[in-house]
Amino acid sequence: MRIRKGDMMKIFVDTAKIDEIKEAESWGILDGVTTNPSLIKKAVESESEDISLDDHIEEILRTVEGPVSLEVGGISKEEMVSEAKILYEGFNDINNNVVVKIPINTATTENDDEFAGVKAIKTLSEDDIPVNCTLVMSPNQALMAAKAGAAYVSPFLGRIDDHIRKKINLRRGEDYPKGTYYPEELARKIREQKIYEMIMSGRVEEMIYKDHSIMKLFDWANDDGIFSGVDLVWSIKEIYDRYEFDTEIIAASIRTPRQVRLCAEMGVDIATLPFSVIEKMVIHFKTKEGMEGFTKDVIPEYRSILKG
Ligand code: G3P
Repeated sequence: MRIRKGDMMKIFVDTAKIDEIKEAESWGILDGVTTNPSLIKKAVESESEDISLDDHIEEILRTVEGPVSLEVGGISKEEMVSEAKILYEGFNDINNNVVVKIPINTATTENDDEFAGVKAIKTLSEDDIPVNCTLVMSPNQALMAAKAGAAYVSPFLGRIDDHIRKKINLRRGEDYPKGTYYPEELARKIREQKIYEMIMSGRVEEMIYKDHSIMKLFDWANDDGIFSGVDLVWSIKEIYDRYEFDTEIIAASIRTPRQVRLCAEMGVDIATLPFSVIEKMVIHFKTKEGMEGFTKDVIPEYRSILKG
């Protein structure tokens, strides 16, 4: 029996690997699945059984009751709408849980339509096909997705953290491996300190009007003053709550349990997590230490009661 008080943050697993989905499902914590072309590639490459991709997708859909996001591969509006319909019409009858994933903006060259994603979201939503708008990196993109009719929006926390810390250059050119904690508060402080130093150097006018260095500091994230991935989700939530959008936020590209905790504290609708992050949410070294003590202290009389 699950005891739930009101609405709570749903947990999706961000993988196409059937064993991971089945394992998470068996814990009773799984509310849905998100996939993308890279995750499907990884799953298929690691597959030991020789099953077709159709059967693989069908198994995912049957394993969970909640929504399963399947992403399109095209970049024009026409391609995306057609692929989304193929996915939805081909698979939704299996368990009535297909959501199609459409990037907010698919353009990568100047010949591509920057607005194909928004147009595809509008068309599909009008046809009652639920859309998860993906690759969202700014609050304004999330606002556009919601207005166009997306049922879900997926801000990419981890990738925003990657981008901001690269700008701050905390590690002086060294890479941040996935899963490294991004110190949001420290980032704020470094920025404030740099601004302070610029002001104290007395070259403010020159810096604002000539080499723009102060303005560059205000544009670190290049995303409406966002400081971190968690900050991005918080801002989207503020906007959606203010205007009572029905679009649900799926906090995505999460790499650490700490990001999950911060999302839960702000009351985000859904967090989609790599299976490794879900595992880490259950593990704590002090729990292990406590267990060692309890296990040692089971006296024989108590053990015999436990054996019934
Ligand atoms: O759900 C989005 C996710 O799969 C991307 O994650 O860690 O590659 O940025 P990541």
